[in-house]
Amino acid sequence: MPDAKTPVADLTEAEAVEELTRLADEIAGHDSRYYQHDAPTISDADYDALKQRNAAIEAAFPHLIRENSPSLRVGAARAEQFSPVEHGVPMLSLDNAFSDEDAVDFDARVRRFLRLTDEVVAYTAEPKIDGLSASLRYERGVLVQGATRGDGKVGEDVTENLRTVSDIPKRLSGSGWPEVIEVRGEVYLGHEEFAALNAAALEAGQKTYANPRNAAAGSLRQIDPKITATRPLKFFAYAWGLISEPFAQTQWEALQALKSWGFSTTPQSERVEGAAGLLAAYARMEVLRPKLSFDIDGVVYKADRLDWQARLGFITRTPRWAIARKFPAQQARTILESIDLQVGRTGAVTPVARLHPVTVGGVVVENATLHNGDEIARKDLRVGDTVIVQRAGDVIPQIVGAVLDERPADAVPFEFPHVCPCPLQTPLARETTASGAETVVRRCTGELACPFQRIEHLRHFVSRRAYDIEGLGEKQLTAFFERGWIREPADIFRLARDEEKLTELRQTEGYGETSVGNLVANIEARRAIPLDRFIFGLGIRHVGETTSTALARHYETVERFVAAGAAAEAQRPTEAYHALADLDGVGPTALEAVLAWAAQPSQDLLIPSEASLEERLRLTLPKLNATARRAIAERFGDWERFEAAARAALSGKAGEDFLELAGVDAVGPVAARMVAEFFGEEHNRARVDALLAELSVIPAEKPKTDTAVAGKTVVFTGALERMTRDEAKAQAERLGAKVSGSVSKKTDLVVAGPGAGSKLKTATELGIQVMTEDEWLAMVGG
Ligand code: IVH
Repeated sequence: MPDAKTPVADLTEAEAVEELTRLADEIAGHDSRYYQHDAPTISDADYDALKQRNAAIEAAFPHLIRENSPSLRVGAARAEQFSPVEHGVPMLSLDNAFSDEDAVDFDARVRRFLRLTDEVVAYTAEPKIDGLSASLRYERGVLVQGATRGDGKVGEDVTENLRTVSDIPKRLSGSGWPEVIEVRGEVYLGHEEFAALNAAALEAGQKTYANPRNAAAGSLRQIDPKITATRPLKFFAYAWGLISEPFAQTQWEALQALKSWGFSTTPQSERVEGAAGLLAAYARMEVLRPKLSFDIDGVVYKADRLDWQARLGFITRTPRWAIARKFPAQQARTILESIDLQVGRTGAVTPVARLHPVTVGGVVVENATLHNGDEIARKDLRVGDTVIVQRAGDVIPQIVGAVLDERPADAVPFEFPHVCPCPLQTPLARETTASGAETVVRRCTGELACPFQRIEHLRHFVSRRAYDIEGLGEKQLTAFFERGWIREPADIFRLARDEEKLTELRQTEGYGETSVGNLVANIEARRAIPLDRFIFGLGIRHVGETTSTALARHYETVERFVAAGAAAEAQRPTEAYHALADLDGVGPTALEAVLAWAAQPSQDLLIPSEASLEERLRLTLPKLNATARRAIAERFGDWERFEAAARAALSGKAGEDFLELAGVDAVGPVAARMVAEFFGEEHNRARVDALLAELSVIPAEKPKTDTAVAGKTVVFTGALERMTRDEAKAQAERLGAKVSGSVSKKTDLVVAGPGAGSKLKTATELGIQVMTEDEWLAMVGG
């Protein structure tokens, strides 16, 4: 079963269906609590995160988009007590930005869409008022109807209630208003008014509101307008819907016009120019925020020119010409109750903070990642500490630091456990690089004997980019693991043909004829697996998708790949080789000279034996420079030890098979070492053999060399509209191109879709060829 934390990339199609259903239910529940009952149970940031996850899954599985998807809906259904009002023009929502970078990207997107080169775009930067939006219809200057947003298309008729809001004109003043206009803006409640309302409610023994926004919504949606009239609601105008004729050329002019007709507009709004203007406006608004008499939760940026707004248009439910830059998440204090360890697929152990539950920005936080032991030491976090927890634009809460004044007298520095929390309690080792340097990662040395690692390993095996087996989520795998049915990948395929177990499974709660049938079918569908997925599924460290594809292309068949892995193991460089090769100061020329010298039989030298090692090196190995001589002298001390080390390094030098492996494009010495080590383990070879007995591996195709893009490095960025990312990548690779995730000098071509950001910018700066998806398809004949 997927859970809310399963990365979207790891979801199988069945899991995605399940997740989309769960998210739709959850979002609908929140919508109803928010819109119909004015009593939300989560923060906006978390609500946004749910919607973003829904959108991300839909982007990965576009064919699964449901008709009633939350992404196609704004807000929620109307409450029964108000009659429906169809908006003349839908009331849409805004896309969110969380950082300076997002704001700069927004400007870049606008400019690109409009194909502007030198021209600077002007924007309005307006406070994002934290209330509820309303639409007011004026005909010949008279307010005839007022409505809430509702689901964006149809809202609730709250005309009489809106008439009680003091700064909503019942008749427009001034001149120049269109005969028919829907004026839009935010109904809100000021801080003082909110406090007074809650104090009175408390006095009268009634329920209080959680925040001004809920109070405003609750007040506006009273059945009896007389009650609304007692609530000091206010209104800021900032937009419009249907208009019978245009009344302004820019957003800025429109705001002035609205003001001249008698509306309140936010005095903090300003007109700024370019990305720099957007950032500066945000910084100013951050300073203003605590001084305002009403809540704002960010800044809304809007392209100023209305003709440009019209050209920019909309994407499903949000305009391309505007974006809401949200203020960052809030912080809270709580107690760090304990620090637990979590074990990942490759045995990497991650510490997790268990916290006394605390509400941060409207959400209860109980856990926070601590990344690694060094981070705990750096922040000197101790169990029992009062800590500051922060939730930012992302969903993972973080610990900012400890409040030292409140540290209990008996709190001791955290000592990273020396054993894995798994039942084996195997020692934890700090990971080292090839040259023996320690990294921040600690690993369980139990490898595949560690049950935690095995389950994580199996999860990787069935994940979308590996075998993509639907119906085997973490929950099922853990259950099968505990039953002893699935202990290693081959067991998955054995299970599918084990009638006895399948009969037992059909009788297990939660399974039936259909689900068992589906599971078996999903497993059987993977008995033939392309070589790249087979390699990726092995879960070898440092062997991701790109490396797997490169290896598959190079070795073509599984037999050749397995043989190469085993041969490389016998020939991989030894520690003795690394002792010399990784020595600081010894470059490739020096290394080659030392190894060439060590290959010759030892000679009696006519060098005075009292000469220092450095001196002897200078005379014997003239190709070594002073730095190399000094490094060698420092490391080995005397001639005998140096000679022994040089001969050991020579015999420990990588053999041809290892060098071939490390030489495969995108592989390199580290991944090569991991592959070699993997095949060096008896139990890994046994697992691979067991798996191969169940599978047939489809050989990889040699990449084409006679196409327009053969040998070129291509980067896809932004949204693709005619194919998925995976399809684009597969197609490019079939045609012999290399697909990379980042733009560098080595990139030959960037295919940029809507929303492309920094990669496109880099490409333009580097003068790399950029084309649209359509141009790409035309070129490759897709
Ligand atoms: S413009 C096409 N301007 O934020 C979208 N919205 O997340 C037109 N909001 O539904 C909206 N202050 O309720 C706009 N200055 C402002 C705003 C603002 C608050 C709210 C509004 C909107 C939501 C979008």
